[in-house]
Amino acid sequence: MLSDTLTSIPIPIPIPIPISIPIFQLITAPSVEFMLAASLLILLSAVHVHYMMARADTSPVQKLLPRRVEFVSIVQDILLHEEFIKLKDYRHHTNHIYDHVNRVAYISYCIAKVLSLNYTASARGGLLHDFFLYDWRERKATDNSKALHGREHPQIALDNARRYFPVSEREADSILKHMFPKTSSPPRYLESVVVSLSDKIATVIEYFCHLACRKRP
Ligand SMILES: [Fe+2]
Ligand SMILES: [Fe+2]
Repeated sequence: MLSDTLTSIPIPIPIPIPISIPIFQLITAPSVEFMLAASLLILLSAVHVHYMMARADTSPVQKLLPRRVEFVSIVQDILLHEEFIKLKDYRHHTNHIYDHVNRVAYISYCIAKVLSLNYTASARGGLLHDFFLYDWRERKATDNSKALHGREHPQIALDNARRYFPVSEREADSILKHMFPKTSSPPRYLESVVVSLSDKIATVIEYFCHLACRKRP
């Protein structure tokens, strides 16, 4: 009786399951260690490629880096000129004008170089931007016309620069507009903006260092 009942139950036929699992589901997610190792390998490869390009002087990063030797080669004819050296005799901010313009020129050169601008114009414009041979405090005290030094000295600096050196259009604009917004017309070129900005940065650095040195016992 029992055997009759068991034989009457239909035996289920196994249906083959089609293998349709997408292949990406078979790949397990990479471990954190694997990701770190891969990242490190990529980083090392990038450093190696950069090093090889730097050695061959073809690295784009290398070309953007400021170099002191290059800066000096751009501006040394001005720095060594006997008339320009006279700027050491005139006080400006916390030291003499020669020190200030040298700082502005180097900051301008660095910014322009990193931004792929005309760094020669920025460096030379920055160096010549305060090329006036007088102590503006003394001049102000004796000047009956009450002319504003802040507005008139860019033109004086440009006249002096043209008298002793070849001055390009960008350099002239950098010198003439470096006091903006004190002067009404804004800089025409990005190189001039860089010089104007560098002048302000240098001034802040000079006063900050001066104060820091004074506080030292
Ligand atoms: Fe100035
Ligand atoms: Fe200045």
